[in-house]
Amino acid sequence: MTTLTLSSADLAGLATDALVVATAPAGGRKKGAVLVGPAERLKAAPKRKLEEALAALGATGKAGDIVRVPGAGIAAAPVVVAVGLGAGPYTDEALRRAVGGAVRALAGTRRAVLALPFDTASQLDAIAQGALLGAYSFDAFRSDSKAASKSPVDRLVVHVSDAKDAGLVAAVNRAKAIAGAVNYARDLVNTPSGDLPPAALAQAAADAVADLPVEVEILDEAALEAGGFGGILGVGKGSANPPRLARLAYRPEGATAHLALVGKGITFDTGGISIKPSLNMHEMKGDMGGAAAVAGAVVAIARLGLPVNVTGYLCVAENMPSGKAQRPGDVIRAYGGKTVEVMDTDAEGRLVLMDGLVRAQEDKPDVIVDIATLTGAALVALGSRTFGIMANDDDLREAVHDASKRAGEAAWPMPFPEELRPNLDSSVADLMNIPMVGRPHGGMMTAGIFLQEFIKDGQRWAHLDIAGPSFNSGAPYAYTPKGGTGASIRTLVQLAEDLADGAV
Ligand code: BES
Ligand code: MN
Ligand code: ZN
Repeated sequence: MTTLTLSSADLAGLATDALVVATAPAGGRKKGAVLVGPAERLKAAPKRKLEEALAALGATGKAGDIVRVPGAGIAAAPVVVAVGLGAGPYTDEALRRAVGGAVRALAGTRRAVLALPFDTASQLDAIAQGALLGAYSFDAFRSDSKAASKSPVDRLVVHVSDAKDAGLVAAVNRAKAIAGAVNYARDLVNTPSGDLPPAALAQAAADAVADLPVEVEILDEAALEAGGFGGILGVGKGSANPPRLARLAYRPEGATAHLALVGKGITFDTGGISIKPSLNMHEMKGDMGGAAAVAGAVVAIARLGLPVNVTGYLCVAENMPSGKAQRPGDVIRAYGGKTVEVMDTDAEGRLVLMDGLVRAQEDKPDVIVDIATLTGAALVALGSRTFGIMANDDDLREAVHDASKRAGEAAWPMPFPEELRPNLDSSVADLMNIPMVGRPHGGMMTAGIFLQEFIKDGQRWAHLDIAGPSFNSGAPYAYTPKGGTGASIRTLVQLAEDLADGAV
């Protein structure tokens, strides 16, 4: 486990294996990079030597620029890593990315000191988050983790002017709670489905809140049957590993606002009888990214002790084809009674979520947010790094979008075009789970419109389709690793803080 501490000791005197400093483009007619932040105040001689080395190595100071300078003779550090921040002002996200990239590049190093510019507690929070998110690796399934990949930096020390400052300490504690939750969700997503069937995922969420004031209830297949959760049961029917509905309730004293988080937890999505092509099917181990985000958000919110009631619901099932699986054309009954004609068993996320959304409304939350790797159409519309935000309330959609911006997560509002709704009319049930006309146009919104059918009038509700950003199929970048990313947790924690402030 990577540790992160603050130090206000003189940079030049710190014993460390690596020193991370920041650069920015020189600007004007000058080419190259200039040092910014604490490194600006180094003594003239070592500073000039470092700047000469940076010039010789072609440092640009642009965002994403990472230059290693060996033996710069500063801080007894055998290597100085200079990260570009781009031209100021340095946004939280620019700092988070730069530090994340530097720490990732330092994998294999034991101890690193981070000396970056910041004026606000929020910027320090971002620096600490970037460091801890960049120090992630997933080696649980390697027989020799050292041989296969370099371990992340073990000890991170952030250089600050006053390590005892209460505001700075609070900012770092927030960063630790959030990064810890994001890395936890990444682990859940990266764990192979064979090692994380529904019962294990529900239990993993319960274990994660064991030392927190969070009450846990897990419904097993018998309880789901008795309660009439036909969506979760229908999707889970084909699998030898029975489904679960986990409920995590955080009720701090004095809190008034209540946020419900409902997550799609498909531990593996084969598509069911409407089976998927095998190309990239392995990535469907990540189809529980929404449930992982819900568990992670509850952990972070409870660890921070935010004064807001939060209830998380993890709708967990494995979508498998078998002689017991639900068939296209079957009619299932959602929790609460609505019937759905299952036209495509691969549109399973909305079927488990409908049960979770109806259940969540029984707890009378002020706001419900569901989080799901719901549609490939979300990737078509927004690419792989931006999640879609839909809502039945314009202010809530704006509030979620605003929270995502402050959290440094890319998201974009999407509409509910009214003409898509009649396409879901069924000739035998209340609703079909996919349209038979107009496919595949507007698939992300159609899924949202389906879910909206399970929301009562007056209930504020937002839907996040995280199918793109939840899983990084490409190369790592900045603080984002390959595989599970923990997307949306930072936004959800920010939203919970805003609710606690009465701002939503
Ligand atoms: N889990 C998938 C969506 C998905 C696709 C997530 C790619 C991440 C990456 C979902 O269950 C699904 O299969 N959706 C179908 C819906 C269709 C049948 C209407 C899809 O997107 O093709
Ligand atoms: Mn599917
Ligand atoms: Zn799915």
